[in-house]
Amino acid sequence: MAMEFSYSMLLLLPLVLYMSYQLTRTLAKKKPTTHGFKAHPLLGYLPAFLNNSHRFLDWSSELIAGSPEMRMGFWIPGMRTGFVTANPVDVEHILRTNFANYPKGEHAIGMLEDFLGHGLFNSDGDQWLWQRKNASYEFSKRSLRRFVVDVVQDEVANRLLPLLRRAAAGDVVLDLQDVLQRFGFDTICMVVFGHDPRCLADGGVLEESKSEFMHSFGEAQDLVIGRFMDPIGISWKIKKMFNVGTERRLKKAVADVHAFAMDIVRARRQSASVEDRDDVLSKFVASDDYSDEVLRDIVLSFLIAGRETTSSGLTWFFWLMSSRPDVVVRIADEVRAVRKATGTRPGEPFGFDALREMHYLHATLTESMRLYPPVPMDPQSCAADDTLPDGTFVRAGWFVNYSAQARGRLAAIWGEDCMEYRPERWLGEDGAFQPASPFRFTVFHAGPRTCLGKEMAYVQMKSIVANVFEELVVDVLKEVAGGGVPEHVFSVTLRMKGGLAVKIRRKTEAY
Ligand code: HEM
Repeated sequence: MAMEFSYSMLLLLPLVLYMSYQLTRTLAKKKPTTHGFKAHPLLGYLPAFLNNSHRFLDWSSELIAGSPEMRMGFWIPGMRTGFVTANPVDVEHILRTNFANYPKGEHAIGMLEDFLGHGLFNSDGDQWLWQRKNASYEFSKRSLRRFVVDVVQDEVANRLLPLLRRAAAGDVVLDLQDVLQRFGFDTICMVVFGHDPRCLADGGVLEESKSEFMHSFGEAQDLVIGRFMDPIGISWKIKKMFNVGTERRLKKAVADVHAFAMDIVRARRQSASVEDRDDVLSKFVASDDYSDEVLRDIVLSFLIAGRETTSSGLTWFFWLMSSRPDVVVRIADEVRAVRKATGTRPGEPFGFDALREMHYLHATLTESMRLYPPVPMDPQSCAADDTLPDGTFVRAGWFVNYSAQARGRLAAIWGEDCMEYRPERWLGEDGAFQPASPFRFTVFHAGPRTCLGKEMAYVQMKSIVANVFEELVVDVLKEVAGGGVPEHVFSVTLRMKGGLAVKIRRKTEAY
């Protein structure tokens, strides 16, 4: 017994020494604070974090809402120190004015490296710049815009609508979030890799291998984000070293995802006509400068960008619409007016210009993402000691997160009705959509790393909503969501926990 005890002590000793070292270091340094919050003198935010880690987004949003600086400081001995901000002045400073001093940083890159390698999303400096330049060039082409509209309209007309019509006819309960994720996955693969995974084809019945892959992708994403929420910053490394627990599952999920991405790269390498193709990957392959691993990482970055962002935006949107029939009617009116102006009939595809004319629909989606941003938090880190515009000190090595979620709910930015869903706040007197500064509405990021897929995302979301509301009614099954705001999964994207259960009806039956 005594022997066992001393062995355990021996095993724990490095951890205890590490914690003491971190504690001394942390206490010796200036720490970030949160207005109105009393951190534990030795353990910092640890006790409060342990109580609130399952609702980190809401907890940080509440603390930020109570802070005149619109910030939440955060420190736990042994874990990283830093702050989460929703202050537009901080965000402009971090994402644009002093961009070079706020990279993703080695710490975050190291945590995501197993999954994302050094693709666009998980790189800094020159490694990021060349990928960004090539991708921006491709995304700015008119041919890509046309291709996006064609791919999206085709997926709506030939896969999504038939699937929803069948669900209406059979009175079937659908998980709309799952359907929208598959839609996002099919379209991102076709636009970026010229590959059709057919996740929404064949009546939406997924082959086992694809279903496993979709599961592995979601799991890899959630488990890798779990590393950031680990209060003892090194415990995931220990689990990884011994290949146990969540790290063991992560390893398997990542292997599945990498194999899928590698298949796409190899298929494109063997394709004879890369120069003639419109997809983004073919342009990278045509230049012959990149290894298969580099191309795989690029593929993964785009998969993560496209698979869950638009589906997240739309899932929360359809849920919000279930309590706002007045908004649904106005969207349908606008769609009808655009049909009339463009001389098209229900069921025909909407062109880029027709979608652009749907200002009210644009406002309804934007307002929904203000309250439920698909990427709720985005971490950067501070490279060298700095001072924020209001004089607040930031130490080199601190993490600096901006919270799109907290920002969207601040009265100081959006007014006293900030928690109200009000699309009109985005419309001018002439009914035209009025965009906000990206530092106020940071849902698509801002500055040099701003989202490249924003236009594509709106094309996708507007096409889906316009076509669905033109013909169908989506009934959210409130008893499934418990009637209140559904719970979310805190991951790279804001997913709805358990999905969104709906039934579909033909519109003529509803009105
Ligand atoms: C509603 C949908 C979307 C939202 C809310 C969104 C949001 C964002 C955010 C917050 C970032 C910054 C991420 C970071 O710091 O690493 C980002 C970057 C990016 N997004 Fe999107 N995104 C959306 C859809 C898309 C789509 C459909 C694509 C298509 C390919 C895309 C492509 C990209 C790319 C390539 C970047 C990387 C920019 C860089 O690091 O230089 N996004 N997006």
